[in-house]
Amino acid sequence: MSDYDPTKTSTGHQLSEGTYLDSHFQAMQPEYEAMIRSVGIQPGWRVLDAGCGGGSFLPHLAELVGETGHISAIDLAPENVAKVKTLIEEQPLGCPIEVEIGNLTALPYEDNQFDAIWCANITQYLTAEELDKMFAEFWRVVRPGGTVAIKEFDLTSFTFAPFDQRCIWRLHVGEPAHGALRSFQLPTWLKQCGFVEVDCNTFLSERSHPLRPMELTYFQAIFRGQAQIAMQSNISKQDKDAWLAVTDFKSPDHVLKHPDFYWRENHILVVGQVPDNQTKKVQSENG
Ligand SMILES: C[S@@+](CC[C@H](N)C(=O)[O-])C[C@H]1O[C@@H](n2cnc3c(N)ncnc32)[C@H](O)[C@@H]1O
Repeated sequence: MSDYDPTKTSTGHQLSEGTYLDSHFQAMQPEYEAMIRSVGIQPGWRVLDAGCGGGSFLPHLAELVGETGHISAIDLAPENVAKVKTLIEEQPLGCPIEVEIGNLTALPYEDNQFDAIWCANITQYLTAEELDKMFAEFWRVVRPGGTVAIKEFDLTSFTFAPFDQRCIWRLHVGEPAHGALRSFQLPTWLKQCGFVEVDCNTFLSERSHPLRPMELTYFQAIFRGQAQIAMQSNISKQDKDAWLAVTDFKSPDHVLKHPDFYWRENHILVVGQVPDNQTKKVQSENG
């Protein structure tokens, strides 16, 4: 199996290339739209899409803030930022929007500049130290009383069938510390970083036959990615063969063709507030 991973960005993040992100968004659209609508973003707000990827969430953020709102979007991968620029040139979003390349651990924005931050599918890529830095930056750039919304894939709930479930677990155990395994710790993390009124909700995505074309595209990309990880992992030959088999899409016995095929992924949405002016001031002074 080739080492080439079409879902990887030029900055080295797997499952982060724009076309792949579009397929994931489309496959999970009902749940994703419900998540972003539940955050409480208001018309007229200034919102940051932190780690915007190919811009899948931007039309929905634009709809929420309306024509009196304002969106900033930032991402590390230059090709994702270029894709967003093309997207908004071809289909203006209806509110002012600026997009730039940048690192979430050192944001190029003024203090208290935003009413809210939307940050989807990013924390899994960050080390604990980077996550602390990113939350400290979110704290700095969001106004007192403003909102921070963190959406993350929960790898602990991921499964598909018919397939030996232990094979999935053994792969996760063999992976180097995967950030999507700690999604349930994000509420605690946010509180430790000083955010208040932290709320956590889960959005379960389940799929079975008949599958839509965008679901097939997305599942196949995930199977290829899992098989690549499996080939580099310290698991048995039997497990590696099982993962290779899920990339043999032409096989009449492929799991995606099974009448009882089942897919489950879970998404976590953690929403917290920056405390009021006085508390933020005191906490900032205390470092
Ligand atoms: C899985 S994609 C998610 C994109 C988008 N939020 C979505 O959900 O469709 C992860 C994105 O995080 C970006 N990224 C990873 N680490 C970053 C960092 N430290 N600063 C800025 N962007 C980062 C990657 O370039 C990639 O576009």
